[in-house]
Amino acid sequence: MNKFDNILITGGAGYIGSHIVEKLVKTNTKIFILDNLVTGHKKLINKKAKFIKGDIKDLTKVRNIIIKNDIKSIIHLAAHLNVKEAEKNKKKYTLNNIKGTFKLIKACKNLKIKNIIFSSSCSIYGSVNGSVSEKRKPNPQGYYAYTKYKGEQLIKKYSKKYKYKYAILRYFNVAGASDSNKIGEIQKSYGHLFKNLAIQSLKKKPKISIYGRDYDTKDGTCIRDYIHISDLVDAHIKSLKYIDTKSKSVILNCGYGKGYSVMDIVNIFRKINKKIIINFTKKRPGDVANVYADVKKIKKILKWKPKNNNLVKILKSALKWEKTIN
Ligand SMILES: NC(=O)c1ccc[n+]([C@@H]2O[C@H](COP(=O)([O-])OP(=O)(O)OC[C@H]3O[C@@H](n4cnc5c(N)ncnc54)[C@H](O)[C@@H]3O)[C@@H](O)[C@H]2O)c1
Repeated sequence: MNKFDNILITGGAGYIGSHIVEKLVKTNTKIFILDNLVTGHKKLINKKAKFIKGDIKDLTKVRNIIIKNDIKSIIHLAAHLNVKEAEKNKKKYTLNNIKGTFKLIKACKNLKIKNIIFSSSCSIYGSVNGSVSEKRKPNPQGYYAYTKYKGEQLIKKYSKKYKYKYAILRYFNVAGASDSNKIGEIQKSYGHLFKNLAIQSLKKKPKISIYGRDYDTKDGTCIRDYIHISDLVDAHIKSLKYIDTKSKSVILNCGYGKGYSVMDIVNIFRKINKKIIINFTKKRPGDVANVYADVKKIKKILKWKPKNNNLVKILKSALKWEKTIN
């Protein structure tokens, strides 16, 4: 794989960021990580990258990093992403996700940033049923989703003025860990299904809460599109190459284009691991019954071909990683 010009990765000490860094350092590209470690972890910081502890809201610091290190591209992952917390503490999410993104963009003014990749989320689509394409008008329901939507708008708005191209990547449900087993998801607080199952796999009596059992789906539980972290990393690298060489901006869904119910995943857990007690609880506000990505665009434009589109593999990698950190 080709080497890129110097890249700044905000949130590079987090789950997704650390996987992007792991892949990019192998291309000999110079990688700079900016992370304040609010939810990131020292353990996830790649030794081959230059780590700078700091905040995306610190405009002067960000500007100096860009100038000093001749940064040409930014992969912007730094954000808060606890959906429940966002509803309770909107200010915190406005400040970090919206104002933080705004400050980061402002720091690029009159500098030579060519490309920005922005981590967005399928949650910006809001209430949809089934396959959703990038053409769908965003209709964010929860506050976290709203902050991601505002982030997208800011990235788009300043693109012409500051002369950068962007790739807005709308992730569906990210899961699993790197084949290296050196990095994976550590944060427990986000309530991600695969992480919860991995935590439970190490308990004597695994238990799982499922929110709602009377959705209009085949088994009454919610349907989502789960993407393995390594395929998501690939989508980042391919989109960076695309916007850099074609000098075009893009918005892309990142998923596999197929939905699985929560019960499907729990049943796979039962097959590869052991028994698990299910506790059905109330539906969560804002959860839609069934959503998965329309992936025609990413496949066509990037010629992206996922290599880990296999729920057993995804779950096994999450369980293996959990054992490593416990
Ligand atoms: N995990 C998913 O399933 C998922 C789905 C859709 C979108 N996303 C987006 O992907 C991105 C990365 O998520 P993740 O799962 O790796 O979470 P994470 O919490 O592991 O990573 C976020 C990183 O950003 C850092 N950070 C937060 N605020 C910062 C700030 N102001 N300055 C500097 N660093 C800061 C944190 O310390 C952490 O290392 C986020 O933008 C998130 O909204 C994630």
